[in-house]
Amino acid sequence: MNNKGISEKGHILVVDDSRDMLEVLHRNLTLQGYTTYTVSSVPEAVKMLGSTPIDLVITDLKMPGVGGLELIKHVRTNYKNIEVLVITGYPSIQGAVDAVKTGAEEYLVKSFTDEELYAAVERAFSKLNMRRDNRVNLYFKKETLQGIIGESKAMQEVFDAINKVSLTNATVLITGESGTGKELVARAIHYSSPRAAYPFVPVNCGSIPEDLIESELFGHLKGTFTGAIDTRGGFFHTADMGTIFLDEISNTSLSMQIKLLRVLQDQEVYMVGSKKSQKVDVRVIAATNVNLEKLVTKNEFREDLFYRLNVLTINLPPLREREDDILLLISHFVKKFAREASRPIPNFSDNALRVLRDYHWPGNVRELQNIIQRLVIMSEEKLIDVPDLPPIMRFSVLSGEGMKRTLAVVETEYILNVLASVSGNKSHAAEILGIDRKTLREKLKKAGYSDTRNEEK
Ligand SMILES: Nc1ncnc2c1ncn2[C@@H]1O[C@H](COP(=O)(O)OP(=O)(O)OP(=O)(O)O)[C@@H](O)[C@H]1O
Ligand SMILES: [Mg+2]
Repeated sequence: MNNKGISEKGHILVVDDSRDMLEVLHRNLTLQGYTTYTVSSVPEAVKMLGSTPIDLVITDLKMPGVGGLELIKHVRTNYKNIEVLVITGYPSIQGAVDAVKTGAEEYLVKSFTDEELYAAVERAFSKLNMRRDNRVNLYFKKETLQGIIGESKAMQEVFDAINKVSLTNATVLITGESGTGKELVARAIHYSSPRAAYPFVPVNCGSIPEDLIESELFGHLKGTFTGAIDTRGGFFHTADMGTIFLDEISNTSLSMQIKLLRVLQDQEVYMVGSKKSQKVDVRVIAATNVNLEKLVTKNEFREDLFYRLNVLTINLPPLREREDDILLLISHFVKKFAREASRPIPNFSDNALRVLRDYHWPGNVRELQNIIQRLVIMSEEKLIDVPDLPPIMRFSVLSGEGMKRTLAVVETEYILNVLASVSGNKSHAAEILGIDRKTLREKLKKAGYSDTRNEEK
């Protein structure tokens, strides 16, 4: 039976060996505006799923031949966006429990009323829609925003900002600690802007020697200086029609800053050795992990350039301030690295996840990414537990609570980290800590870590 419904409310496949049941469900659901298909066995259902877009499968559990549980497994393994509603003909809780464990979202026990049916179907659809919205968002973030992951409020604001600024040509200043994703955001802006088909040119202002940076950025005329054997364009020429990303902008000299200011104001560059300016059409995105305003007050950064750059600012909060993202990023990187290394996806114990969530992540997402990569590759276990984590993190489990620790607790943690780094050798640790062994012993004892077994070390 195949009814082409008129409404776009959703597509339901009903699987039941009882003709009567199929007819009742078909009639009721069609009346409710759903497009309803019916089949009387699991093999037929599998075939139907392969050829027709379905949103919800309503299946009986007990059927001759292949049972409903097998169908749920099939749906769960092959279709991420299909909900399953189970009908059990006998009020056996175990059957329903098994079904739910296997992946059914809802179950109805015969004989249910029409209202119960509609309510269950509606719940299934609203779950489906919620999941799809998330998926669409995640898809959108991943693809359009070039792999930036984040569900925290802070990151949602960053996504909004990226979407807004990518429609403009304005200069953007991206601020944030090291490893928070500044370059990723700069790329996302470029690739979601009308300039996407033109180059994105990242320039690390901190890594180019002072005497070369001008010619690297603006190009030079032949013979202007030793080594200038040809007339050559600079990064601004390469980025024409596209975007230049001036990373670590605070590392430019004051004289370079004047030249950059001129480019921003006039959209013109002067090649080294040339008195004639050239028009360039380049969008500038700059990034810094230091506070430029502070540098301005210390006269280490030009105020006029700061205001020119700071037209639109996107601040990336440190990872420790977006707890919501930590677990999401872990799950993202675990899958990514497991796939890349063709390894099984490991699980994490609750304690390990707690330690990871509470750690203060000084290296932000880059640090998390590196740690997860190492764990996925190095860990022999299917379950990653606290002892598998780097020592520096393991000790933070003693205090939990991220940035809410007392000085005494931080001191103890640090002592334990140092001790761990020298394999428990107290003389060596005391030397590193700049205290004598006696003081170290006392401190450990006070914190409840006196360990006489290691006393000889
Ligand atoms: N939200 C995120 N989702 C996925 N990956 C991320 C995210 N943020 C950062 N990363 C990854 O972390 C690493 C560091 O990011 P990125 O280089 O953009 O940081 P940065 O702020 O420019 O750091 P630095 O100041 O040290 O240059 C990159 O590999 C990047 O892909
Ligand atoms: Mg960077």
